[in-house]
Amino acid sequence: MKLVIEYFGQTHDGDEVQGYLIENSSGLAVRLINYGAIVQSVKFPGKNGDQEEISLGFDRLEDYLHEHPYFGATIGRYGNRIARGEFALEGEAYKLAVNNGPNHLHGGLRGFDKVLWGSEESSTGEAASVRFNYSSPDGEEGYPGRLDTWVTFSLDEGNRFIIEYEARSSASTPVNLTNHTYWNLSGAGTGDILGHELTLVSESYLPVDQDLIPTGKMADVEGGPMDFRSPATVGGRIGEVEGGYDHCYVLGEQPSKEPRPAAILRDPLSGRCMRVSTTEPGLQLYTGNFLDGIKGSGGKVFERHGALCLEAQHFPDSPNRAEFPSTILSPGDTYRQVTVHEFSLP
Ligand code: GLA
Repeated sequence: MKLVIEYFGQTHDGDEVQGYLIENSSGLAVRLINYGAIVQSVKFPGKNGDQEEISLGFDRLEDYLHEHPYFGATIGRYGNRIARGEFALEGEAYKLAVNNGPNHLHGGLRGFDKVLWGSEESSTGEAASVRFNYSSPDGEEGYPGRLDTWVTFSLDEGNRFIIEYEARSSASTPVNLTNHTYWNLSGAGTGDILGHELTLVSESYLPVDQDLIPTGKMADVEGGPMDFRSPATVGGRIGEVEGGYDHCYVLGEQPSKEPRPAAILRDPLSGRCMRVSTTEPGLQLYTGNFLDGIKGSGGKVFERHGALCLEAQHFPDSPNRAEFPSTILSPGDTYRQVTVHEFSLP
């Protein structure tokens, strides 16, 4: 296992940002940065042996310091939306930062994707990892309690890229962490992902309103364009889904102790395949509907549907939905999530 730490840039406050390159002997290479605990690059060989970039990102720190579509970012305290940025907890009403129309999205104006994280690296013969930590102060973006958060990214010789999360809070608070990597297994910037073949281990999904807030219902995927229980191309029925896929699939009624199979994404062109398993009860399928020609790594241009995200998470707007699995972390308890991405060639 290779683990190399290199200077990546400087924030506007003058803080140094580091890049952490981890690579195994099969050519699976992941680069992380401690700004936003971001997955800046993922490379993996295709059937012709070429190691290619398969995630969307930027080459320069400067591009991450401006608004961007959360490329590779660690999202916190809350992945996806909380309606009107409001919720009530233990008799108190809370008002969060609103940054997406009327709603709170991905932790607010300065979420975990826009802060500098501490880091600690470790490496053995078989695996290497970087453990990031961030302590979110009481009241940050409107959330109660100080939240101490750890995110560990590991890579092993079995071509597994593992993300493990842990958090502890000084007061009850909603927590819903996720990672926002955009995947294009044919190669980032080489075209769209409509020909990728997707399987989702899910029987139901959460329908949303016009602001992408779940209506509270769970709908059966049976037979319609949301049904990926058997492998289907992403683009096959996308025209029947208004705006493209941007929905949370239900993986289970509650989180699981051990990761359970959630998705298989396969690119027939390159032969690359990624299997996702997670302890989370939900998986957000987002087909890059809002990408609109942003320029990224290597000068590549990322157009609509140029990549897709599979965000392991709890359900959006859970703090306002007693019927959804709870996202409330109480003091004394530990939030945990494990999400595994396993890569293979045909
Ligand atoms: C998530 C949301 C999308 C969009 C992207 C970021 O995946 O579900 O609606 O906000 O993040 O562009």
